Amino acid sequence: MRRAARRLVGSVVGALTCASAVAVLAGEGAPGFGVTDIMDAMVVPPSDALFGVGRAEPDSEQAWISLRHQAVILGEAGRALTAPGRSRGADWDAWSVAMSDAAESAARAIDARDVDAVLFAGGDIIESCTGCHRVYLPLDG
Ligand code: HEC
Repeated sequence: MRRAARRLVGSVVGALTCASAVAVLAGEGAPGFGVTDIMDAMVVPPSDALFGVGRAEPDSEQAWISLRHQAVILGEAGRALTAPGRSRGADWDAWSVAMSDAAESAARAIDARDVDAVLFAGGDIIESCTGCHRVYLPLDG
């Protein structure tokens, strides 16, 4: 009796696990945090920090190191956007990859302590933001 009950519970859990796996594969219900949270926590602050080089250059070794950390966060945010359940299609993935690539260019420029190259990478970063928003941002005023 008890064993049968355990088997029943086991198969219900198994069915639920399967159902959620199918939902993720079908792109229903993003895993973890949503896109707005990722924008606000992982995309906007690091990109602002990188654009900020145009207003004030990093003035210490620690400032360069902190700036590099921002490039890392932005690069990995791009990858987080392509996760199953978050990705909204091929264009979405392309703009996310473009953002990651531009963040990696920024990191290389930071390693070279080359402000102009950081700003150049910043141009590519902005292009990835506007490129994706043009297609996917809901325009409701
Ligand atoms: C791959 C697509 C994509 C990329 C790349 C992208 N965004 Fe977004 N962003 C979105 C979507 C979609 C939303 C709206 C949220 C939603 O529909 O779930 C959004 C929303 C936002 C918001 C509004 C957040 C809020 O609290 O309402 C800001 C600000 C933002 N993005 C800034 C940026 C910046 C800056 C970049 C580039 C550094 C960027 N985004 C790159 C897709 C993208």
